Amino acid sequence: MDPVPATPSASSAITLKVNGEKHTLPVDHRTTLLDALRERLDLTGTKKGCDQGQCGACTVLLDGRRAVACLQLAVAAEGREITTIEGVAEEGGQLHPVQQAFLDLDGYQCGYCTPGQICSAVAVIEEHAAGWPSAVTGDVRPEAGSPPLTAEEIRERMSGNLCRCGAYVSIVQAVARAAAAHGSTTETTETTGAAAASAAGGAAA
Ligand code: FES
Ligand code: FES
Repeated sequence: MDPVPATPSASSAITLKVNGEKHTLPVDHRTTLLDALRERLDLTGTKKGCDQGQCGACTVLLDGRRAVACLQLAVAAEGREITTIEGVAEEGGQLHPVQQAFLDLDGYQCGYCTPGQICSAVAVIEEHAAGWPSAVTGDVRPEAGSPPLTAEEIRERMSGNLCRCGAYVSIVQAVARAAAAHGSTTETTETTGAAAASAAGGAAA
């Protein structure tokens, strides 16, 4: 009689490199990266919204590219560079230009979506600078180069991140400001303070 095969282990010890620090932890193989970050590593800046890949609240950077952490298994993130909102700020604790722009231009209301929005925006600016087209880019030939980062381009590129408060107007302006500081060509007009808040309220309707 053949031996009964061993039951595969349901958990493993993995090492996650998050914001430059290595953490070794045992995880059930079904644990999502989002739950590992929040529940096991106490990195609660990354938010759980839908837990189904639809809202973008849990967006982190994996090797510099955007990923929704609720759809990633923690075991699959081993060996990759994971950056959460806690690791976006620059050396010495200085805010990342995207963070500063969100502050300056009221890019949030309740703030729940903000960590995901900021992680996305950081990657959007890099993707645009690298010449990646979006669904609204007219001329996608490589020789055409990066299109200006218009409000339409920003809205499309950030469309995976939902904001229930409707702070979209200010978010677009904040991304444009940070992108301009990064050297991108942008074409948006800024409003600030009450005007931005009022416009954002209108966008939510
Ligand atoms: S919580 Fe991950 S996309 Fe909504
Ligand atoms: S600021 Fe409240 S959900 Fe976006």
